Amino acid sequence: MAGRVVVITGAGRGLGRAYATHLASLGARVVANDLDEAVDGDGIVAHLGDISEEDCAAELIETAVTRFGTLDALVNNAGILHSGLLLQLSAQHWDEVQRVHLRGTFLTTRAAGAYWREQAKAGKPVQASLVNTTSAAGLYGFVGEAAYSAAKGGVVSFTLVAAAELARYGVTANAVAPVARTRLTAAWAKESPSDSAGDPLAPEHVAPLIAWLTGPESRDVTARVFEIGNGSLAVVDGWRPAAKVDLPLSDYQPDALVRPLLARAPQPVPIVDPERL
Ligand SMILES: NC(=O)c1ccc[n+]([C@@H]2O[C@H](COP(=O)([O-])OP(=O)(O)OC[C@H]3O[C@@H](n4cnc5c(N)ncnc54)[C@H](O)[C@@H]3O)[C@@H](O)[C@H]2O)c1
Repeated sequence: MAGRVVVITGAGRGLGRAYATHLASLGARVVANDLDEAVDGDGIVAHLGDISEEDCAAELIETAVTRFGTLDALVNNAGILHSGLLLQLSAQHWDEVQRVHLRGTFLTTRAAGAYWREQAKAGKPVQASLVNTTSAAGLYGFVGEAAYSAAKGGVVSFTLVAAAELARYGVTANAVAPVARTRLTAAWAKESPSDSAGDPLAPEHVAPLIAWLTGPESRDVTARVFEIGNGSLAVVDGWRPAAKVDLPLSDYQPDALVRPLLARAPQPVPIVDPERL
Protein backbone atom coordinates (compact mmCIF):
# COMPACT_ATOMS: atom_id res chain seq x y z
CA MET A 1 0.00 0.00 0.00
CA ALA A 2 3.02 2.27 0.38
CA GLY A 3 2.31 5.57 -1.33
CA ARG A 4 -1.19 4.65 -2.52
CA VAL A 5 -3.67 7.47 -2.08
CA VAL A 6 -7.02 6.35 -0.72
CA VAL A 7 -10.23 8.28 0.00
CA ILE A 8 -12.50 6.74 2.64
CA THR A 9 -15.97 8.16 3.32
CA GLY A 10 -17.54 7.98 6.77
CA ALA A 11 -14.10 7.36 8.27
CA GLY A 12 -14.62 9.30 11.51
CA ARG A 13 -15.66 6.26 13.50
CA GLY A 14 -16.47 2.58 13.26
CA LEU A 15 -15.29 0.57 10.28
CA GLY A 16 -14.10 3.57 8.24
CA ARG A 17 -11.85 4.71 11.06
CA ALA A 18 -10.35 1.22 11.35
CA TYR A 19 -9.73 1.21 7.57
CA ALA A 20 -8.06 4.65 7.66
CA THR A 21 -5.76 3.72 10.53
CA HIS A 22 -4.82 0.35 9.05
CA LEU A 23 -4.17 1.69 5.54
CA ALA A 24 -2.06 4.54 6.94
CA SER A 25 -0.06 2.01 8.99
CA LEU A 26 0.73 0.21 5.72
CA GLY A 27 2.09 3.42 4.22
CA ALA A 28 -0.99 4.62 2.33
CA ARG A 29 -1.92 8.28 2.31
CA VAL A 30 -5.54 8.59 3.35
CA VAL A 31 -8.21 11.25 3.06
CA ALA A 32 -10.66 10.40 5.84
CA ASN A 33 -14.03 12.01 5.21
CA ASP A 34 -16.86 12.21 7.71
CA LEU A 35 -19.82 14.44 8.50
CA ASP A 36 -18.63 15.44 11.92
CA GLU A 37 -15.71 13.31 13.18
CA ALA A 38 -12.15 14.05 12.10
CA VAL A 39 -9.44 11.37 12.21
CA ASP A 40 -5.83 12.40 12.62
CA GLY A 41 -2.65 10.47 12.23
CA ASP A 42 0.47 10.09 10.16
CA GLY A 43 -0.51 10.03 6.50
CA ILE A 44 -4.16 10.87 7.23
CA VAL A 45 -5.88 14.08 6.17
CA ALA A 46 -9.38 14.73 7.54
CA HIS A 47 -12.14 16.01 5.28
CA LEU A 48 -15.44 17.06 6.85
CA GLY A 49 -18.58 17.12 4.75
CA ASP A 50 -21.70 15.32 3.55
CA ILE A 51 -20.87 13.05 0.61
CA SER A 52 -24.47 13.06 -0.58
CA GLU A 53 -23.93 16.74 -1.54
CA GLU A 54 -22.62 17.03 -5.07
CA ASP A 55 -20.08 19.77 -4.31
CA CYS A 56 -18.78 17.97 -1.25
CA ALA A 57 -18.25 14.69 -3.11
CA ALA A 58 -16.30 16.52 -5.83
CA GLU A 59 -14.28 18.47 -3.24
CA LEU A 60 -13.40 15.24 -1.42
CA ILE A 61 -11.81 13.75 -4.52
CA GLU A 62 -10.06 17.06 -5.27
CA THR A 63 -8.66 17.07 -1.73
CA ALA A 64 -6.83 13.79 -2.40
CA VAL A 65 -5.42 15.06 -5.67
CA THR A 66 -4.39 18.44 -4.27
CA ARG A 67 -2.92 17.13 -1.02
CA PHE A 68 -1.30 13.93 -2.28
CA GLY A 69 -0.98 14.45 -6.03
CA THR A 70 -3.20 11.60 -7.18
CA LEU A 71 -5.99 9.18 -6.26
CA ASP A 72 -5.59 5.40 -6.30
CA ALA A 73 -8.64 4.14 -4.46
CA LEU A 74 -12.03 5.18 -3.18
CA VAL A 75 -13.75 3.34 -0.33
CA ASN A 76 -17.42 4.29 -0.07
CA ASN A 77 -18.15 3.46 3.54
CA ALA A 78 -20.36 6.28 4.91
CA GLY A 79 -23.71 5.05 6.09
CA ILE A 80 -26.74 5.64 8.28
CA LEU A 81 -29.70 3.57 9.44
CA HIS A 82 -33.33 4.35 10.14
CA SER A 83 -34.76 1.22 11.70
CA GLY A 84 -38.40 0.27 12.03
CA LEU A 85 -40.94 -1.96 10.36
CA LEU A 86 -41.81 -0.77 6.88
CA LEU A 87 -45.38 0.16 7.77
CA GLN A 88 -43.94 2.63 10.27
CA LEU A 89 -41.20 3.94 7.99
CA SER A 90 -41.58 7.63 7.06
CA ALA A 91 -40.91 8.84 3.54
CA GLN A 92 -38.34 11.23 4.99
CA HIS A 93 -36.37 8.43 6.63
CA TRP A 94 -36.61 6.39 3.41
CA ASP A 95 -35.15 9.32 1.45
CA GLU A 96 -32.38 10.04 3.96
CA VAL A 97 -31.15 6.45 3.85
CA GLN A 98 -31.19 6.25 0.05
CA ARG A 99 -29.48 9.61 -0.09
CA VAL A 100 -26.40 8.65 1.90
CA HIS A 101 -25.89 5.11 0.60
CA LEU A 102 -26.97 5.39 -3.02
CA ARG A 103 -26.60 9.04 -3.97
CA GLY A 104 -23.45 9.38 -1.84
CA THR A 105 -21.83 6.30 -3.38
CA PHE A 106 -22.78 7.47 -6.85
CA LEU A 107 -21.50 11.04 -6.41
CA THR A 108 -18.07 10.13 -5.06
CA THR A 109 -17.68 7.35 -7.63
CA ARG A 110 -18.58 9.71 -10.46
CA ALA A 111 -16.07 12.30 -9.24
CA ALA A 112 -13.31 9.68 -8.81
CA GLY A 113 -14.18 7.98 -12.10
CA ALA A 114 -13.94 11.30 -13.95
CA TYR A 115 -10.45 11.80 -12.48
CA TRP A 116 -9.34 8.28 -13.48
CA ARG A 117 -10.74 8.72 -17.00
CA GLU A 118 -8.85 12.00 -17.35
CA GLN A 119 -5.63 10.31 -16.22
CA ALA A 120 -6.14 7.34 -18.55
CA LYS A 121 -6.89 9.63 -21.50
CA ALA A 122 -3.72 11.60 -20.76
CA GLY A 123 -1.78 8.34 -21.15
CA LYS A 124 -0.95 7.98 -17.45
CA PRO A 125 -1.07 4.44 -16.02
CA VAL A 126 -4.15 4.02 -13.84
CA GLN A 127 -4.41 1.10 -11.40
CA ALA A 128 -7.32 2.25 -9.33
CA SER A 129 -9.78 0.55 -7.01
CA LEU A 130 -13.31 1.28 -5.95
CA VAL A 131 -14.68 -0.51 -2.89
CA ASN A 132 -18.35 0.00 -2.06
CA THR A 133 -20.08 -1.04 1.11
CA THR A 134 -23.10 -3.28 1.06
CA SER A 135 -24.53 -5.34 3.90
CA ALA A 136 -26.12 -8.67 4.70
CA ALA A 137 -29.27 -6.53 4.75
CA GLY A 138 -28.75 -5.67 1.09
CA LEU A 139 -27.89 -9.24 0.10
CA TYR A 140 -30.54 -11.20 2.04
CA GLY A 141 -32.92 -8.56 3.48
CA PHE A 142 -33.16 -7.55 7.15
CA VAL A 143 -36.42 -7.45 9.09
CA GLY A 144 -36.97 -3.87 10.28
CA GLU A 145 -34.54 -2.31 7.78
CA ALA A 146 -36.54 -1.90 4.57
CA ALA A 147 -34.91 1.37 3.49
CA TYR A 148 -31.41 0.26 4.40
CA SER A 149 -31.81 -3.17 2.76
CA ALA A 150 -33.07 -1.55 -0.45
CA ALA A 151 -30.20 0.94 -0.46
CA LYS A 152 -27.54 -1.69 0.19
CA GLY A 153 -28.96 -4.00 -2.49
CA GLY A 154 -28.75 -1.04 -4.86
CA VAL A 155 -25.10 -0.51 -3.94
CA VAL A 156 -24.30 -4.00 -5.27
CA SER A 157 -26.02 -3.38 -8.62
CA PHE A 158 -24.31 -0.02 -8.84
CA THR A 159 -20.93 -1.68 -8.18
CA LEU A 160 -21.45 -4.15 -11.05
CA VAL A 161 -22.13 -1.29 -13.45
CA ALA A 162 -19.15 0.69 -12.16
CA ALA A 163 -16.90 -2.35 -12.63
CA ALA A 164 -18.04 -2.76 -16.24
CA GLU A 165 -17.96 0.92 -17.20
CA LEU A 166 -14.74 1.94 -15.45
CA ALA A 167 -12.66 -1.13 -16.40
CA ARG A 168 -11.47 0.63 -19.56
CA TYR A 169 -9.85 3.32 -17.40
CA GLY A 170 -7.96 0.80 -15.23
CA VAL A 171 -10.44 0.69 -12.35
CA THR A 172 -11.64 -2.37 -10.41
CA ALA A 173 -14.88 -2.20 -8.43
CA ASN A 174 -15.97 -4.58 -5.69
CA ALA A 175 -18.46 -4.54 -2.83
CA VAL A 176 -17.93 -5.61 0.76
CA ALA A 177 -20.61 -6.55 3.30
CA PRO A 178 -18.90 -6.16 6.69
CA VAL A 179 -20.06 -7.26 10.10
CA ALA A 180 -18.58 -5.40 13.08
CA ARG A 181 -19.46 -3.88 16.39
CA THR A 182 -19.95 -0.16 15.73
CA ARG A 183 -22.43 2.58 16.54
CA LEU A 184 -24.60 1.21 13.72
CA THR A 185 -24.87 -2.27 15.23
CA ALA A 186 -24.92 -1.26 18.91
CA ALA A 187 -28.49 -2.58 19.24
CA TRP A 188 -27.55 -6.22 18.65
CA ALA A 189 -23.73 -6.46 18.86
CA LYS A 190 -23.68 -5.91 22.60
CA GLU A 191 -20.90 -7.77 24.33
CA SER A 192 -17.48 -6.26 23.83
CA PRO A 193 -14.56 -8.40 25.02
CA SER A 194 -11.74 -6.26 26.35
CA ASP A 195 -9.21 -7.83 23.98
CA SER A 196 -10.09 -6.60 20.45
CA ALA A 197 -7.75 -9.13 18.76
CA GLY A 198 -9.90 -11.91 20.20
CA ASP A 199 -13.19 -10.18 19.39
CA PRO A 200 -14.59 -11.50 16.10
CA LEU A 201 -16.75 -8.36 15.80
CA ALA A 202 -13.85 -5.89 16.03
CA PRO A 203 -13.84 -3.57 12.95
CA GLU A 204 -10.06 -4.11 12.73
CA HIS A 205 -10.66 -7.60 11.28
CA VAL A 206 -12.28 -6.11 8.16
CA ALA A 207 -9.50 -3.60 7.44
CA PRO A 208 -6.93 -6.04 5.89
CA LEU A 209 -9.47 -7.10 3.25
CA ILE A 210 -10.07 -3.43 2.39
CA ALA A 211 -6.30 -2.95 2.12
CA TRP A 212 -6.05 -5.95 -0.21
CA LEU A 213 -8.91 -4.71 -2.40
CA THR A 214 -7.41 -1.23 -2.64
CA GLY A 215 -3.87 -2.49 -3.10
CA PRO A 216 -1.79 -3.92 -5.94
CA GLU A 217 -2.40 -7.63 -5.25
CA SER A 218 -6.07 -7.66 -6.31
CA ARG A 219 -5.81 -6.06 -9.76
CA ASP A 220 -7.56 -9.05 -11.37
CA VAL A 221 -10.49 -9.00 -8.93
CA THR A 222 -13.51 -6.96 -9.98
CA ALA A 223 -17.32 -7.05 -9.86
CA ARG A 224 -17.19 -9.31 -6.78
CA VAL A 225 -19.03 -9.21 -3.49
CA PHE A 226 -17.39 -10.23 -0.21
CA GLU A 227 -18.96 -10.81 3.17
CA ILE A 228 -16.59 -10.48 6.13
CA GLY A 229 -16.67 -10.32 9.92
CA ASN A 230 -17.71 -12.25 12.98
CA GLY A 231 -15.13 -14.91 12.22
CA SER A 232 -15.72 -15.61 8.53
CA LEU A 233 -14.92 -14.38 5.04
CA ALA A 234 -17.03 -15.35 2.02
CA VAL A 235 -17.33 -14.58 -1.67
CA VAL A 236 -21.03 -14.03 -2.21
CA ASP A 237 -22.62 -15.13 -5.43
CA GLY A 238 -25.26 -12.81 -6.82
CA TRP A 239 -28.61 -13.22 -8.50
CA ARG A 240 -28.67 -15.87 -11.20
CA PRO A 241 -31.41 -18.06 -12.68
CA ALA A 242 -31.77 -20.93 -10.19
CA ALA A 243 -34.05 -23.01 -12.40
CA LYS A 244 -35.15 -22.25 -15.95
CA VAL A 245 -37.40 -23.61 -18.72
CA ASP A 246 -38.15 -22.51 -22.25
CA LEU A 247 -41.18 -20.25 -22.35
CA PRO A 248 -43.77 -21.49 -24.87
CA LEU A 249 -44.58 -18.76 -27.35
CA SER A 250 -48.25 -19.75 -27.39
CA ASP A 251 -50.48 -19.63 -24.32
CA TYR A 252 -48.87 -21.12 -21.23
CA GLN A 253 -50.08 -22.10 -17.82
CA PRO A 254 -47.97 -20.20 -15.27
CA ASP A 255 -48.81 -22.60 -12.46
CA ALA A 256 -47.67 -25.62 -14.51
CA LEU A 257 -44.39 -23.92 -15.39
CA VAL A 258 -43.60 -22.15 -12.15
CA ARG A 259 -44.28 -24.96 -9.65
CA PRO A 260 -41.59 -27.35 -11.01
CA LEU A 261 -39.14 -24.44 -11.19
CA LEU A 262 -39.76 -23.60 -7.53
CA ALA A 263 -39.29 -27.27 -6.64
CA ARG A 264 -35.94 -27.41 -8.46
CA ALA A 265 -34.54 -24.07 -7.31
CA PRO A 266 -32.56 -24.02 -4.04
CA GLN A 267 -34.27 -22.28 -1.15
CA PRO A 268 -33.24 -18.61 -0.81
CA VAL A 269 -30.84 -17.64 1.97
CA PRO A 270 -33.13 -16.76 4.91
CA ILE A 271 -33.71 -13.08 5.65
CA VAL A 272 -31.75 -11.67 8.58
CA ASP A 273 -34.10 -11.32 11.53
CA PRO A 274 -32.61 -9.42 14.48
CA GLU A 275 -34.98 -11.22 16.86
CA ARG A 276 -33.25 -14.47 15.95
CA LEU A 277 -29.64 -13.25 16.11
N1 LIG B 1 -21.18 -2.46 11.41
C1 LIG B 1 -21.70 -3.45 10.69
O1 LIG B 1 -21.84 -4.60 11.16
C2 LIG B 1 -22.13 -3.18 9.29
C3 LIG B 1 -22.82 -4.21 8.63
C4 LIG B 1 -23.15 -4.03 7.29
C5 LIG B 1 -22.81 -2.85 6.66
N2 LIG B 1 -22.17 -1.86 7.35
C6 LIG B 1 -21.85 -0.65 6.62
O2 LIG B 1 -20.53 -0.28 6.92
C7 LIG B 1 -20.38 1.14 6.78
C8 LIG B 1 -19.75 1.72 8.03
O3 LIG B 1 -20.67 1.60 9.09
P1 LIG B 1 -20.24 1.49 10.64
O4 LIG B 1 -20.83 0.24 11.13
O5 LIG B 1 -18.80 1.75 10.80
O6 LIG B 1 -21.12 2.67 11.25
P2 LIG B 1 -20.71 4.03 12.00
O7 LIG B 1 -21.99 4.74 12.32
O8 LIG B 1 -19.78 3.73 13.13
O9 LIG B 1 -19.89 4.82 10.89
C9 LIG B 1 -20.52 5.38 9.76
C10 LIG B 1 -19.92 6.74 9.54
O10 LIG B 1 -20.49 7.31 8.35
C11 LIG B 1 -20.63 8.70 8.60
N3 LIG B 1 -21.61 9.29 7.69
C12 LIG B 1 -22.96 9.10 7.69
N4 LIG B 1 -23.53 9.84 6.73
C13 LIG B 1 -22.53 10.52 6.09
C14 LIG B 1 -22.49 11.44 5.02
N5 LIG B 1 -23.61 11.83 4.41
N6 LIG B 1 -21.29 11.95 4.65
C15 LIG B 1 -20.14 11.55 5.27
N7 LIG B 1 -20.13 10.68 6.29
C16 LIG B 1 -21.31 10.17 6.70
C17 LIG B 1 -21.05 8.80 10.06
O11 LIG B 1 -20.82 10.10 10.60
C18 LIG B 1 -20.20 7.71 10.70
O12 LIG B 1 -18.98 8.21 11.23
C19 LIG B 1 -21.80 1.66 6.48
O13 LIG B 1 -21.97 1.81 5.09
C20 LIG B 1 -22.68 0.56 6.99
O14 LIG B 1 -23.94 0.57 6.38
C21 LIG B 1 -21.82 -2.01 8.64
